[in-house]
Amino acid sequence: MPTLNEIRSTFLNFFESNDHAIVDSSPLVPRNDPTLMFTNSGMVQFKNLFTGVEHRDYTRATTSQKCVRAGGKHNDLDNVGYTARHHTFFEMLGNFSFGDYFKEQAIPYAWDLLTKEFGLDKSKLLVTVYHTDDEAADIWKKYAGLPDDRIIRIATDDNFWSMGATGPCGPCTEVFYDHGPEIWGGPPGSAEEDGDRFIEIWNLVFMQNERFEDGSQRDLDMQSIDTGMGLERIGALLQGKHDNYDTDLMRALIEASAHVTNHDPDGPGNVHHRVIADHLRSTSFLMADGVMPSNEGRGYVLRRIMRRAMRHAHLLGAKDPVMYRLVPALVTQMGQAFPELGRAQSLIEETLKQEETRFKQTLERGLSMLDDAVADLSEGGELPGETAFKLYDTYGFPLDLTQDALREKGLGVDTGGFDAAMAEQKAKARAAWSGSGEAADASIWFDIAEAEGVTDFLGYDTEMAEGQIRALVRDGAVVTEAKTGEDVQIVLNQTPFYAESGGQVGDTGVVRTDGARAEITDTRKVAGVFIHFAKVTEGTLTKGDAAQLEVDHLRRSRIRANHSATHLLHEALRAALGPHVAQRGSLNAEDRLRFDFSHTKALSLEELKQIEDDVNAYIRQNDTVETRIMTPDDARALGAQALFGEKYGDEVRVVSMGTHAGSGKGADGATYSIELCGGTHVQRTGDIGVFVTLGDSASSAGVRRIEALTGADAFRYLSEQDHRVAALALELKAQPGDVLDRVRGLMDERKALGNEVAQLRRELAMAGGAGQGGGAAVEEIGGVRFVAQVLSGVSGKDLPALLDEHKARIGSGVVLLIADTDGKAAVAAGVTDDLTSRVSAEDIVKLAVVQLGGKGGGGRPDMARGGGRDVTNAEAAIETVRTLLKG
Ligand code: SER
Repeated sequence: MPTLNEIRSTFLNFFESNDHAIVDSSPLVPRNDPTLMFTNSGMVQFKNLFTGVEHRDYTRATTSQKCVRAGGKHNDLDNVGYTARHHTFFEMLGNFSFGDYFKEQAIPYAWDLLTKEFGLDKSKLLVTVYHTDDEAADIWKKYAGLPDDRIIRIATDDNFWSMGATGPCGPCTEVFYDHGPEIWGGPPGSAEEDGDRFIEIWNLVFMQNERFEDGSQRDLDMQSIDTGMGLERIGALLQGKHDNYDTDLMRALIEASAHVTNHDPDGPGNVHHRVIADHLRSTSFLMADGVMPSNEGRGYVLRRIMRRAMRHAHLLGAKDPVMYRLVPALVTQMGQAFPELGRAQSLIEETLKQEETRFKQTLERGLSMLDDAVADLSEGGELPGETAFKLYDTYGFPLDLTQDALREKGLGVDTGGFDAAMAEQKAKARAAWSGSGEAADASIWFDIAEAEGVTDFLGYDTEMAEGQIRALVRDGAVVTEAKTGEDVQIVLNQTPFYAESGGQVGDTGVVRTDGARAEITDTRKVAGVFIHFAKVTEGTLTKGDAAQLEVDHLRRSRIRANHSATHLLHEALRAALGPHVAQRGSLNAEDRLRFDFSHTKALSLEELKQIEDDVNAYIRQNDTVETRIMTPDDARALGAQALFGEKYGDEVRVVSMGTHAGSGKGADGATYSIELCGGTHVQRTGDIGVFVTLGDSASSAGVRRIEALTGADAFRYLSEQDHRVAALALELKAQPGDVLDRVRGLMDERKALGNEVAQLRRELAMAGGAGQGGGAAVEEIGGVRFVAQVLSGVSGKDLPALLDEHKARIGSGVVLLIADTDGKAAVAAGVTDDLTSRVSAEDIVKLAVVQLGGKGGGGRPDMARGGGRDVTNAEAAIETVRTLLKG
């Protein structure tokens, strides 16, 4: 009996031996289709090849595509566990031709594979064709030898496959397997077709048309093939089972569930095991492809599936988290075919465990509230929408979980009432926002959020993605198009552009649609809506257009490096200065980073150097940067740095990097930096390259600011500094290493020379030498010896020493010195101690200063100083002092 893994290989190898390239499954989050929530069939990754927009170096391909059908248009979630063939996650085997072979080859390949490789009994196979497709009917007849009554013509859309309202499409032929008359059901097209006797196993689509939004259709330039066969379904058939959940792979997961919950896999709880097995696959694969649980978009679908599984585990009596304990069994089963599963194993386990631990806290209380609420309802009754909303809002019960819980009791939910309660809550949130006065025109973004939904951010995993334009806003009003040269704000359903937050600047880049192009100059967000500020450079952007979005990669890389370096800097500061260091603000731009933190003193050069050395050591460590989603409490328990006083939601993103190497708080081997952060980061710390600080400054009271550079900017800065030192060395005729000593020597020498010059000036002044205003004659006025002198070439600060010398020389008397300092006047007066009771130096200075065009002046009775604007009045000033002394 072939295993599912063997069946997958047989399929892929068969087509490989027929010249098909084996192409990896694309991720579950479609990169090239903005309208799809999850990849839901094999052709999604090839969509643009069918329409001729894209070309690759193969024209034949085969894949086993991971698919999720939960949320969005194709939603099988409600039926999982209760039916034989519904899954939220499944694999679709397919072969594809892009303008290479068509029906004449696709049908024979299918027939050969089914009857020869898989060895199915030909007499059990029958097919459907589109009612007008004589050609396909003919090939089935001739090649497979099927009689007319086993080639059923169908006139409905069942045999005309299309992706959705738009995109490539075409007639299809489906292969069915007849399980025999003992099972109820009729052939396709009959009234009993929904029975289980005739089961569809393969769909072959003849891609030949493309549909457009207005309902029109065109013939594609080339004819192509897209086929899809569910691995689980063909697996059940080849393993002689009637139920997909009885195949080896699903059975292994069910047994793992039975083991961890200690419940018979086939007992009365078997529905729970089936739900758990299915949901384990979809949740694990979604996380492996970068989706993390959240309250919006894809992340919320993931959370809903997880919580649904957790309720079923709870019904099996599981007291502790169990889902995460099943991941190893899944990796054993599927890790070889999908290596991404093994790579993400620890992330998946940790996230499941945290989600389950957290949900358990409210699950029981929610379930008992639900029991009370439905106690009086009779079969067929409905739970009031408001109660369902309370379960959602307070206990974290997704609506479908409540519905699932009520289904067992034959009850439903008033979904209209639920929607109304939800709308009321949104209206309140909106009122709170507009009341906060944050942005007067924010209401337009709330309108858009309500009408179009919030934007799904893809930018943690990719810088390029396709989105659908959901709204255009120009000059504060919603418009339907924007033309060349116009400035417009674009909202899309999903985007790789990071919107400014947490100190990280918004992304810039380009958006292209069929025929138009716009430059994105900034990205911001309001109410979950990402606003792309754009200028249209070509053509016309129209609401509804599919758009290729491309973030400016180089700029984003620089921003990433700066942001990750900020985290390392934060930790290095705490290690060097102490645990009081807390973030007070930050900027992560493309050309620099800025970090404000609580600390009262300027940093010494040694501290700055230690911080720089630390950060660079962790850069060289080249550790992987890891992100996790958890509750704020769990994050704090982990030691994550959070912004003090910041309000966090139910869950936070935690970014960790570096392994502790001794210094600071953590023990060796512990994670170095753990921070709550929604920003984008490097993959490994080594990607930062190099880090250099530009010094520290005061930002506000008790807050210091460090600016720094990373990568090429840091290197350029360091290299410029190095060149400067080399030039200095040349100038100083010293080795670069000796420059500092040499400069210190020169400074000392300069100081000594300065002192010497001042001394000489004083001596010259005392000696009445050149330029010293005619020397210093001693006059006798009113019995007092008076010396007055106008000096040039000396500064105001030289005057007190000169005063003292004059006073010493005359023994008893009054001295007035006026220095000419570039046309202005510095004045000093001195009175020997024996005369201070008769005349005060302060009075003298005040008198002189007035004459010199100044004000004030002061000091002590024996020595006072002042200044004036105009030295040309020096003689007049001296004269007033003479008059004063004459008394
Ligand atoms: N696209 C078709 C399907 O999903 C065949 O692969 O059924």
